[in-house]
Amino acid sequence: MHLLDTAAREAIVAHYAQRRHRLYARWKLKTDPVYAATAALLRDSALPLLDIGCGIGLLGQYLHASGARVRYAGVDHDGFKIDTAQAAARHAGLERELDLRCADAATLPPVSGHVVLLDILHYLPADRHRALLQVATGHLAPDGLLVIRNVLREANWRFHATRVEEFFLRYSGWIPGGAQHYPSADELREPLEAAGLAVHIAPLRGRTPFNSYLLVARHRAPDSETP
Ligand SMILES: C[S@@+](CC[C@H](N)C(=O)[O-])C[C@H]1O[C@@H](n2cnc3c(N)ncnc32)[C@H](O)[C@@H]1O
Repeated sequence: MHLLDTAAREAIVAHYAQRRHRLYARWKLKTDPVYAATAALLRDSALPLLDIGCGIGLLGQYLHASGARVRYAGVDHDGFKIDTAQAAARHAGLERELDLRCADAATLPPVSGHVVLLDILHYLPADRHRALLQVATGHLAPDGLLVIRNVLREANWRFHATRVEEFFLRYSGWIPGGAQHYPSADELREPLEAAGLAVHIAPLRGRTPFNSYLLVARHRAPDSETP
């Protein structure tokens, strides 16, 4: 599923000054359905959005290109990626719309709205997952959505393909430290349900070979057992 056609995706790519970022952005926007899936969930909402581990800011760019006028705050602990994201936002004329900050996931701005974690959890050690899920839940507005895309730990070839990719990502220097712990579906579902959220998990792989899933959670309606 693409919300943006090739020309619109190329317009995003052109906001990145370095060739390697343009190649990365083009590949991600073309093959990975996560930006379209997230934009489809959030673009009609007026709630602000907190993007934890925002990388070079592709989601914020994608949301604006697809017509969302959401107030967006993105944080990432990699200063170089945030510099890149900020430069791209300036080039796109979105420096006021996209608030991009260098910060660890443990020190988040006081946003209450939707919360997004795209491909970040497995870079944190297992003992930080529960704490981050709790913090993310604390930033949800009553009608806010928690959107998590992550590879899940499962015994299948897609999971092994993911681990091979992560090996190269780590040694290329793109993700210093590399993957720490891949959660299982239950490791995500249980603490969120215990916090009163209704949780839906479904595969989201697009044209990638990776074992990726999309989790969408929201506060359970009073007196309801199901989403
Ligand atoms: C695979 S990238 C995903 C980037 C972005 N979410 C996307 O999908 O386009 C994972 C990002 O998580 C960031 N990250 C990892 N651990 C983090 C932490 N503890 N606090 C903030 N960001 C973190 C990395 O720097 C990296 O930019």
